[in-house]
Amino acid sequence: IIQKHIPEEKYNEVIEHLRSNFFADEPLNKAVKLCDHGEKHHDLEMHSLKTLEDNLSVMAIDSNTNRIIGVALNGIQNPNDIKAAKEELLRAKDEKYKNIFSFLYDINRDLNLFAKYRVDQIFECRILSVDQNYRGQGLAQRLLEKSLEVAEEAGIKLFKQDATSFYTQKIAENMGFVSVFELRYKAYRNDDGKIIFETSEPHKFLKVMVKLLK
Ligand code: ACO
Repeated sequence: IIQKHIPEEKYNEVIEHLRSNFFADEPLNKAVKLCDHGEKHHDLEMHSLKTLEDNLSVMAIDSNTNRIIGVALNGIQNPNDIKAAKEELLRAKDEKYKNIFSFLYDINRDLNLFAKYRVDQIFECRILSVDQNYRGQGLAQRLLEKSLEVAEEAGIKLFKQDATSFYTQKIAENMGFVSVFELRYKAYRNDDGKIIFETSEPHKFLKVMVKLLK
């Protein structure tokens, strides 16, 4: 079952789900070895909880066990949020986490989708995660479809995701998203020419993908 609302009493279970299935597996996290499966991550947990409080996230529940098997954590982005988020990032504890988020924030700041699409708010899918034992069954696509409904109900005109995974890029393409920015991970290097995010196959690109809503 896909549910449009994640109640506060489920927040702990969402975090546990992310520790077991997202923190270690998301392609950039995996590339920098951010954490092991099941491990806690203070900064990512704060980021996730803050997003949950926007009340726009959706979850998939296994109706037999009543347990969470997937989530799309969604939030609204306002024009000054990236600047504020970058300042807040200075207080983050983990350098690897800082590298990932300053990379994403800088790209989004430079893209300036607010001006490009003449909108004053953007609906962002920040975390898309499916339980390892339930992948490849279309759950992520259903979570994203439900998120589109939530965005439309909230009256937002532009839906965006920083698709770091080949799989989320495929899903977004299937759903009519367009890619407005692409970067090959191998081309993103430090001053010594070293690749910063050594992602594993088949994750070759970051794609910022958007869809205009009714
Ligand atoms: N091997 C090959 N293809 C795959 C695999 C796999 N392991 N997993 C998914 N796919 C393909 C599917 O075939 C499908 O493509 P199709 O529609 O053309 O057949 C597409 O990818 C999506 O499949 P779903 O079943 O909807 O995706 P799933 O429920 O398995 O969830 C997800 C995908 C969320 C990426 C999951 O693998 C996951 O949680 N990974 C770890 C976290 C992560 O990387 N999240 C995305 C980061 S980007 C972001 O958060 C905005």
